[in-house]
This record gives sequence, structure tokens and C-alpha cells, in this order.
Amino acid sequence: GPTFEAIDPVRGITNLSSGKMGFAIAKAARRAGADVTLVAGPVALPTPRGVHRVNVVSAQEMANATLAVLDSGSMFNVFVGTAAVADWRVTQPSAEKLKKNSNRVGPVLSFLENPDILATVARMPCAQKKTDGSKYLFCVGFSAETHALERYASEKRKRKGVPLMVGNIGPLTFGQDENALLLVDEMGTTEIPKASKDQLATR
Ligand code: C5P
Repeated sequence: GPTFEAIDPVRGITNLSSGKMGFAIAKAARRAGADVTLVAGPVALPTPRGVHRVNVVSAQEMANATLAVLDSGSMFNVFVGTAAVADWRVTQPSAEKLKKNSNRVGPVLSFLENPDILATVARMPCAQKKTDGSKYLFCVGFSAETHALERYASEKRKRKGVPLMVGNIGPLTFGQDENALLLVDEMGTTEIPKASKDQLATR
């Protein structure tokens, strides 16, 4: 789902991601027999049966929780980054609620870039493809775009160093129960036509 970046104790910046795709993938993986840990942003979705859930709010918390899970000693085979992680956080969130002032001008916020969780995980030694064919952490990213899906998804796959990038059209997926996907890997692209997120996750 989304992350939430605080401005002050009662306000923040977030996005329209619902978390439905990520939860559907967690459910499908569990149904296929996997042990699943779901690091979830602030979403009101029920935890899929048998899935271990870790709740976080901000991108920084999501990064910390994800790295802690991967560090916990369990052997993971697949990492799927479906979250719409906020690109930026407010440099200095106010400890107190910001108040309106008489000159009718709002506050000026400055931003810092958040850590890229997917790129960080994909750079870990355990995520490097092994020449002897042994297992490694297979990383999957999601790329939400408004246009030029193939180009952006393929660029992002290379930039983040992941074997599989899944492209989708942001405004057509955020909050919806259905979606259509474009899988981009080293072999090329594969379209998965519109279907429910549960069906897409299973495929
Ligand atoms: O660069 P962009 O946000 O479009 O990349 C999307 C992919 O990168 C998604 O898989 C998303 O979960 C991941 N991502 C991340 N940490 C960020 C930004 C994006 O893991 N700070």
C-alpha cells in the first residue's frame, strides 16, 4: 500500500495506493505453500490467513522493517516490492500542530528523498544470481506509470537491478479490484490482460 509521511502530528503526505495488489500476492503465495511476511503500509485490509504481517507507517519504517525481516535469519526466496513508497519525506516534521497565521500564507515544506527499499534489497549479496545455479533472493518490483509503460518499466528494472519488473497503469490500478499487467524480464515482455488482482497474483 502507500506510506504516510508526517508533516506534523495530525497531517501528512500519502498516495492513493490501496494495498490490494500486495495483499493479493501475499494471499496467493501463501495458498501456493509459501511462508509469507507482509510488510504493510497504513491500509484497512484484513491480513490474509496464515500470513505474518508487520505494520508500518512511513517509508523509513518500511525500509527498517523490511531489512529487519530479511536479516532475521530466515531464508527467503522471493521479495516482491508492491508498495507505493513515498519518494520524499518532510525534512523536519513539526512536533506540534502547525497553525494558520494572519498573513494567509501556508507553510513551506522541504523534502528529503526516502531510501529505495527495492534497490537496496536487490543489491544485497543474497539477491545476486549465483553462477552455480544455487538459490538466490529473486526480487520483483512494480512500476506504476501513466504512459510509456514498457519503456519506463524496462528502464526501472535495469536501474533497480531486479530480474522482474511488473508494469501497470497507476490511475487504472490504485484502489481497483482489477488490473492489467506487463511483465518485463530479461527475455522481454509478457502482457497479462485485465483480471481480478487475486487472479493476477496467482498467475
Ligand atoms: O521508482 P518507482 O517508485 O517508480 O519504483 C517502483 C518500485 O520501487 C516498486 O516496486 C516500489 O515498491 C519500489 N520502491 C521502493 N522504495 C522507494 C520507492 C520505490 O522500494 N523509496
